[in-house]
Amino acid sequence: MPRAHITLDKHAVIAPVRRRTFGSFVEHLGRGVYTGLYEPEHPSANDDGFRMDVVELVRELGSTTIRYPGGSFVSGYRWEDAIGPREKRPVRRDLAWHSLESNQVGLDEFARWLKLTGSEPMLAVNLGTRGIQAALDLLEYANHPSGTALSDLRVANGTPEPHNVRMWCLGNEMDGPWQTGFMTAQDYGKIAARTAAAMKTADKDLELVVCGSSGSGMPTFGDWERTVLEHSYDHVDYISCHQYYQEHDGDLGSFLASAVDMELFIDTVVATADHVGYKKRSTKKIDISFDEWNVWYLKEHQESGEVNDEWRHAPRQLEDLYTVADAVVVGNLLMTLLKRGDRVTSASLAQLVNVIAPIMTEPGGPAWRQTTFYPFSITSRLAAGEVIRPLIDAPTYTTARHGQASVVDTIATVDEDQAAVFLVNRDLAQAAQVTVDVRSLGSARVIEAVTLADADVYAKNTLAEQQRVIPRANPSATISEGVLSIDLPPVSWTAIALRQAAGD
Ligand code: AHR
Repeated sequence: MPRAHITLDKHAVIAPVRRRTFGSFVEHLGRGVYTGLYEPEHPSANDDGFRMDVVELVRELGSTTIRYPGGSFVSGYRWEDAIGPREKRPVRRDLAWHSLESNQVGLDEFARWLKLTGSEPMLAVNLGTRGIQAALDLLEYANHPSGTALSDLRVANGTPEPHNVRMWCLGNEMDGPWQTGFMTAQDYGKIAARTAAAMKTADKDLELVVCGSSGSGMPTFGDWERTVLEHSYDHVDYISCHQYYQEHDGDLGSFLASAVDMELFIDTVVATADHVGYKKRSTKKIDISFDEWNVWYLKEHQESGEVNDEWRHAPRQLEDLYTVADAVVVGNLLMTLLKRGDRVTSASLAQLVNVIAPIMTEPGGPAWRQTTFYPFSITSRLAAGEVIRPLIDAPTYTTARHGQASVVDTIATVDEDQAAVFLVNRDLAQAAQVTVDVRSLGSARVIEAVTLADADVYAKNTLAEQQRVIPRANPSATISEGVLSIDLPPVSWTAIALRQAAGD
């Protein structure tokens, strides 16, 4: 049985827990919006046509900032199509997903939906088929209070208050040959810099995200970041990271170590950004917006033919059903984002509903939680205060894809009178016996300990069996003389909430 010993020091602070770490992403793709968020005929729909059963689950998920409306979709999007009277909105072709867009949901509706969920918008502008003027127009429509053509149009359309969108993405994955209007790093760096400068002339406090690579596997990865930032460094605040993981060829050990790769990716982008900043003798630091991350069975999607020659409205696309192992990886990736909260100050789980999502719906039917819902919702609920760096003494194992990986990984957060410890056991067969020295936290007691695991690591929640996999209390968690002990089943994710004893 693997054993691990972890030491927590509440003074070893990495960064504050950034609420934007718990961001998500809604794209006009498949059933992400239509029959996902919006289904006027559904029994739970409100007057706007939004499914309130989904709103409830999004609240429970605890997602904060929500990126919209794409993704690859945004690179062919005309935002003006989706404002004003619904009956006048045009149906358009969406080239990214080869489907039809009815435009029945646009910015104003989405902003109303965000209010229901208590989330903040993060908008992407189209730099694929459009440019500076369209971005400025959207900014004026969204954020200018009133008294100009486009702000008055928003008011006339029924939204008197500005949406006050703070975070904006300057296009999406512009390095990817699949992206409508993809560009070289030189070309993109220039248009991103000019668009950012113009947007900041309108509002200097905007937080702007320039596109990094579509993933660390791109042939231009690294050079892309450097070149784009050489052009745009002074005008932007964030560079994006996107990365999806999946199990390849039955290699579960490598898949479970995906967080090792994510951390290396983050380190590399930080180093590249700092290299450019140093060359420019700039005192400014560029943060990372990890605005697409998840498990996605991309290879299977590409082979599935679900994106085909037909032009359908809201077809079933990217509706991955997630396993226990997938949830362990998602939980571990989220731990890594917290761990790198010194530079990753915003992140978006891609996506939110139906499309590679923690929440699934059936048209006219129920909404339910995937396995991946749980580590996200529990971490969002428990992580508070500051992230602290744990000292981990644990065995390692060799992976084919990511080198050496610790069998047990962990991160912890500490607030005034409470703390949370998140753990994964990557061992395929054995439970891990873990002890955590929590003396630095004062006389803490366990108030909650939950584990997500299953004898079948490929068990899933499905429409027919929506609660097949749920997190369960882990009764092995105990504290004695400042040492927390817990057993972690093989392939598992665990969260422990600690509270200081009264008077401590
Ligand atoms: O999230 C699905 C797609 O993945 C997004 O549209 C795109 O940005 C990425 O390639």
